[in-house]
Amino acid sequence: MISKDTINRIFETARIEEVVGEFVSLKKRGVNLLGRCPFHNEKTPSFTVSPAKGIYKCFGCGKAGNSVNFIMEHEHYTYPEALRYLAKKYNIEVDEDFNKTEDIENENAKESLYIISSFAAKYFHENLLNNDEGKAIGLTYFRERGFTDATIQKFQLGYSLTEWGSFTDEALKNGYKIEFLEKTGLTIVNESKKQYDRFRGRVMFPIHNLSGRVIGFGGRIIKTDPKSPKYVNSPQSDIYNKSTILYGAYQAKKAIINLNTCYLVEGYTDVISLHQSGVENVVASSGTSLTIEQIRLIGRYSKNITVLYDADPAGIKASLRGIDLILEEGLNVKVVLFPEGEDPDSYSKKVSATELKEYLTKNAVDFILFKTNLLLEDTKGDPVAKATLIKDIIATIAKIPDPIIRSTYIKECSSLMEVSETVLIAELNKLRRKVKDKEDYDSSIVREDEKPHVPQPQVITHSSEPQEKDIIRLLINYGAMELVLMNPDFQNDDVDIEIAKEEYLRISVAQFIADEINNNKDFLRFENQLYEIILEEFNTNLSENIIPNEQYFLQHVNPDIAQLTADLVTLPYELSENWKTQHKIDVVTEDMLMMEAVISAINNLKMKKVVALIDEKFKRLNDVHTEEERNTLLEEVMQLINLKTVISEALGIVVVR
Ligand code: UTP
Ligand code: MN
Repeated sequence: MISKDTINRIFETARIEEVVGEFVSLKKRGVNLLGRCPFHNEKTPSFTVSPAKGIYKCFGCGKAGNSVNFIMEHEHYTYPEALRYLAKKYNIEVDEDFNKTEDIENENAKESLYIISSFAAKYFHENLLNNDEGKAIGLTYFRERGFTDATIQKFQLGYSLTEWGSFTDEALKNGYKIEFLEKTGLTIVNESKKQYDRFRGRVMFPIHNLSGRVIGFGGRIIKTDPKSPKYVNSPQSDIYNKSTILYGAYQAKKAIINLNTCYLVEGYTDVISLHQSGVENVVASSGTSLTIEQIRLIGRYSKNITVLYDADPAGIKASLRGIDLILEEGLNVKVVLFPEGEDPDSYSKKVSATELKEYLTKNAVDFILFKTNLLLEDTKGDPVAKATLIKDIIATIAKIPDPIIRSTYIKECSSLMEVSETVLIAELNKLRRKVKDKEDYDSSIVREDEKPHVPQPQVITHSSEPQEKDIIRLLINYGAMELVLMNPDFQNDDVDIEIAKEEYLRISVAQFIADEINNNKDFLRFENQLYEIILEEFNTNLSENIIPNEQYFLQHVNPDIAQLTADLVTLPYELSENWKTQHKIDVVTEDMLMMEAVISAINNLKMKKVVALIDEKFKRLNDVHTEEERNTLLEEVMQLINLKTVISEALGIVVVR
């Protein structure tokens, strides 16, 4: 358990704009910051960060919370993992309540996998620099490839010894459990329970997640051997999902944001060599085709991807399909082709850093025009092939979500392919209809005017959750606000002198609401557990004359409460002025409006509960057997209906009897 002191320190230190800023590029918008939501795919930014409140909220998908919530949600961390992440980011020492060995045992499994992976990365790195075999084989290999010490350091490169169990033995000796070693894939346990290292005699490339923790490895063979694969990679695990991560993303993210472009290459060594030449905005797909998650990962940092190709026409053609997927996500794609026989790694070794950068900018061509030209070469004098090409290119253009960009491409491709724009547009519209149908189907979004009118069966729910939420919202946002009430006991001789003396009573919104609910505890019981907890915290604090405020709940140890609060405080309560006209009052003060808001919120909850009770009693009428039972029940129903009328009048609703 992380101590309460540490948790408080983390909350005091963490700046939401810095925490979010590491993953989302944010622009200043008034007192807030705005960016594209990392939790859903959006074109116009609606993800808002409030440095003053220390929270984020997406007005598109509704996700909201504080720094800890953000890290939990974004990195799929547990609460303690997120706290540790922030502690590390801000150099806060973490006080824990247990000792080290117990710690290893009690850490949840995922955390153990992270710890083991980081231990392994250090171990392999140590081998490379200090072990005789590591130096003679691994380090020599990297040196021959021209990697500098700084590069080896930056990417935490390493070496795995040839012996079968050197890593596993070392890890077990250090107290790591075989169960977790096996889960990371670093150790293989075979059928006869023999344990051995997955990586042996290979140079090691650790793979980091976006926050820089090691999650897996690629290990490259030293001498080519037809019997073994060139690379052995970590298997999927609870912390390593290869389809959602790109190699180098951690080291590249700042540069991608700053330069607003991301270079995409194939291999580990391409990423590393480009870095060494000063090109840091580069990630690798690790030899496989890009997934949607990987494209969205890049898209969070920049909308511009440049794919770097070696000049192998078969390879390029094979990868064209994958690029359509990038266009579909609304990103702009360019292509750089390297000279015959060169890949990003080899070319960056051949030329100076300046020449390389110049080459990359000068040779970046638009993907669609590149594809058109590439395929056009094969269609010379073949009308059938040309028709296929047109369909193919238009299919690519149809994937682009932005209509203006689509029409620009239609113009350019029309002149490149020597086909009239009208023909291309007709083909495009045909395909767009298909795309649109698919989109509608996928998201089941039907526009209002297209919705067929089907009468829906009325579902009557008696859930009072929305009314409870409203009360919690008032409590958290306005709990400390003071209400001034007429004292019903003013000048009443029958009560305490002190009470009778005051014409007005002053009471906080929190106390007023708490009293109202406590006085009708059984009737007004909250259904929602979380709201119930918050209400209870108000009760406990109020008994000590403390009114917990928004900050208290935003930094709550229960992350669900913090998240709910972040959602509530960004939706300020609209104080209704209708009331003014209803009661023909000229001067309306803020606390009069507040009073009205509080009373309606409570009455709305009462109303909901009464209606539910009436309904329940009516249903019971079918089951009663004696006349007497029936009469009692009817009597109760009548009382409830009267109560309903009283509440309705207070709410200004006309009840039709
Ligand atoms: P490459 O063969 O281009 O490797 O495969 P590379 O990284 O450029 O290595 P060098 O320069 O030849 O030393 C590209 C990527 O495909 C994946 C790796 O991620 C590699 O970086 N790959 C390749 C594998 O996973 N397994 C393999 O057997 C080969
Ligand atoms: Mn290579």
